[in-house]
Amino acid sequence: MSTVSSLARLNGWAHEKLGAARTRLAIGVRVPLNRGELAGRKLIWPERVVSGPKFDRLGTIGDEDGIKMAAHEKLTADLAARLKTSGTLLEIACGIGSHTVQFARQSGKVIALDLDAVKLMCAAHNAGVYGVRHKITFIGGDMFDERLMRHFQGRVDVVLFDSPFWGDQLAENNTIANRFIEQVKPRDRFAIRLPKTLDSRQIIQALEPNELLAYHLGGELKYYVAVRYFVNPPADKFTRIDL
Ligand SMILES: C[S@@+](CC[C@H](N)C(=O)[O-])C[C@H]1O[C@@H](n2cnc3c(N)ncnc32)[C@H](O)[C@@H]1O
Repeated sequence: MSTVSSLARLNGWAHEKLGAARTRLAIGVRVPLNRGELAGRKLIWPERVVSGPKFDRLGTIGDEDGIKMAAHEKLTADLAARLKTSGTLLEIACGIGSHTVQFARQSGKVIALDLDAVKLMCAAHNAGVYGVRHKITFIGGDMFDERLMRHFQGRVDVVLFDSPFWGDQLAENNTIANRFIEQVKPRDRFAIRLPKTLDSRQIIQALEPNELLAYHLGGELKYYVAVRYFVNPPADKFTRIDL
């Protein structure tokens, strides 16, 4: 039995649907999708298992940690409007695509990169639910692959790095972010999403962003996004966003 059909069986889900999602992936480098990786992985429908919907539309899917790491649609739509470009936006670590679909709705083209083939399949499916699949190139690859990252040089206007290294690892995130800026050389802006457990003053001190967005939902701080501008930087500022 193929990987796709065993995955579909796992979920009692239509084989044709997953097969279609998989073949539509435009993979820049090999996606390490194999039986071992799928063992014990379960796809679930976010709307049915989380208290607040990460995606507003029904029919979206994710694996368990992908759903946990995804952000609420109100927040992702707002960030997509702020990072909007008529050119190309690269999302490093796209997961199940909660940001990706919003970027594709608002920007010209999107390149979405993740190491995890199952999450990429979910993201491609979710992009289909939002009718924006045709605007996105999904790439299965390692963000630490320097050759891959340099491949984007000169092709990207805006980058969002949705860091998997949450927690108190500010220095490490800063080092990685600077490496991406050097390798990709985004023309317009570079943004990094960071956890609420960090101190906003420490973020400003360490990353020296031109803008720090503090995302709140229902009055509760959810996360930060630090943005560096390479064209027309605003006067340094801190923006509290309440949604
Ligand atoms: C914070 S989550 C991304 C959430 C996602 N942007 C969303 O909006 O739903 C971090 C992601 O980093 C990916 N990741 C971890 N290590 C990676 C690597 N070395 N290269 C590429 N992606 C990686 C994980 O698979 C995970 O999907």
